[in-house]
Amino acid sequence: MSPLVAPSILAADFANLQKEVEMLNVSEADYIHVDIMDGVFVPNISFGIPVTEAIYRHAKKPLDVHLMIVNPDNYLESFRNAGADIISVHYEACTHLHRTLQAIRNLGAKTGVAINPHTPVEFLTDVIQDIDLVCMMSVNPGFGGQKFIENTYSKISRLKHLILAKGAKTKIEIDGGVTVKNASQLLSAGADVFVAGSFVFNSTDPLAMIRELKGITLV
Ligand code: DX5
Ligand code: ZN
Repeated sequence: MSPLVAPSILAADFANLQKEVEMLNVSEADYIHVDIMDGVFVPNISFGIPVTEAIYRHAKKPLDVHLMIVNPDNYLESFRNAGADIISVHYEACTHLHRTLQAIRNLGAKTGVAINPHTPVEFLTDVIQDIDLVCMMSVNPGFGGQKFIENTYSKISRLKHLILAKGAKTKIEIDGGVTVKNASQLLSAGADVFVAGSFVFNSTDPLAMIRELKGITLV
């Protein structure tokens, strides 16, 4: 089974956003990953609602919106209205995660939970059936182009086990430092979706990089 690929627009050329989105439209990408950073939850600021709307106006693929922000509940409706199909909130930013997931679901979006590298997957045990996508951070969130954290492989296996044990349909997305070099080991550990920023956009041929990731098979 081939993996889903979600190129991260964070690594795109923001001065040519329409062109970049049109490139993704004709690519084999499954989602467009949209990284929202508030300068509080993470030590960086990316962009917000108007830019997400602008991406949505040109996008022909679902928007996978990753909220690296505090108080995400206050912005769920705005991002849904801006075109988000999947909304991922951070486990570490939600005091009432179950309530937040219901709110996302009530807006008609798919539910996502992102977990930082230090957060054990077991913390999701009692909400896993309410989660469509776990965005597992394989770098500390805040920046593109960082080095992949090797402990991710064992977290994927443990999360896969948990999903199967609970009979859930949750997809496992890996975010940070994904390249063709680690993708097949990630797939073998149980990953379903690859986010890739610099690997795709720093290339002279992004379409080929997306195709390569789509073509990854089990080791
Ligand atoms: C990091 C973001 C990632 C990032 C991935 O905080 O959540 O989505 O854009 O970029 P690469 O693939 O360059 O690590
Ligand atoms: Zn992300």
